[in-house]
Amino acid sequence: MADLDASKSGTFVVDGNVKIHRLGFGAMRITGPGVWGPPADRAEALRTLRRLPELGVNFIDTADSYGPDVSEELIREALYPYKGLFIATKAGFTRSGPNRWMPNGEPDYLRAQALKSLRKLGIERIDLWQLHRIDPQVPREAQFALIRSLLDEGVIAHAGLSQVSVADIKAAQKVFKVATVQNRYNLVDRDSEDVLDYCEAEGIGFIPWYPLAAGRLTESGSALDEIAKAHGRTPGQVALAWLLKRSPVMLPIPGTSKVAHLEENVAAAAIALSDAEFAALDRAGKTASRA
Ligand SMILES: NC(=O)c1ccc[n+]([C@@H]2O[C@H](COP(=O)([O-])OP(=O)(O)OC[C@H]3O[C@@H](n4cnc5c(N)ncnc54)[C@H](OP(=O)(O)O)[C@@H]3O)[C@@H](O)[C@H]2O)c1
Repeated sequence: MADLDASKSGTFVVDGNVKIHRLGFGAMRITGPGVWGPPADRAEALRTLRRLPELGVNFIDTADSYGPDVSEELIREALYPYKGLFIATKAGFTRSGPNRWMPNGEPDYLRAQALKSLRKLGIERIDLWQLHRIDPQVPREAQFALIRSLLDEGVIAHAGLSQVSVADIKAAQKVFKVATVQNRYNLVDRDSEDVLDYCEAEGIGFIPWYPLAAGRLTESGSALDEIAKAHGRTPGQVALAWLLKRSPVMLPIPGTSKVAHLEENVAAAAIALSDAEFAALDRAGKTASRA
């Protein structure tokens, strides 16, 4: 199907260096319930990963804490040696069970986890390594300095942050080049609007997590529902198309463990929203986010 081509989402150049297709894949959902342990259907998770390059998806987001380790191990099993793929991982959380996440920004811990990701993924340098959270118990400058040393030593090629403010990004930029920022953002969750605008101005890739959420806008008769029907698409697909039109630095990473859902999400790259449709969705999303 001609629609199924992530390159239709356009390209973004990470750190002025590596060109990727903007519509990526989030690999958190190829784990068990609560992002813990193996996925319910391992074979389908592997099929989903192997379908990515066939669909032109060349940007994959994972983390040491997804499983933990499960997501990185499955990515390696399915896709090593990653020809033409750009793999982003993260560290900064310890896990003690399903849905349990505890920040740990101790520099020694972060370094050990980055080195573990190298081994898990079977690579010599991580394409993009992100600090999953700034740990409030550790001075943020110490966490940024660790990132700087990982870059200088060549353990990681590019570095990013997650769930941060504009002030955090500015502080980090004094220590290392911030290539990407990954914050929760979608049509109806607009808390990071200022962060997105700052990233756009700075040429920093903005990776919105939970991109498919649309809350009550999926209800029959909503602006999203009407526009989706007019395009013969699902509300989730139109929510992704809206993100892609919102900013040239937007890099959505919808996550799924199923080939059919992956194909549906990638098809969103081909949806062209008119300016009027974009504006109507923008208004409806902002209203819903304040409700
Ligand atoms: N930086 C952070 O702190 C942070 C936090 C959370 C997530 N993330 C990253 O962001 C990525 C995306 O976030 P997310 O997984 O929370 O949200 P999402 O991608 O918006 O939604 C994923 C959920 O929607 C379902 N889904 C996906 N495609 C679908 C489709 N076409 N039709 C119906 N259901 C569909 C998935 O289940 P199925 O498996 O059944 O399709 C899953 O339950 C994650 O994979 C991860 O890489 C980062």
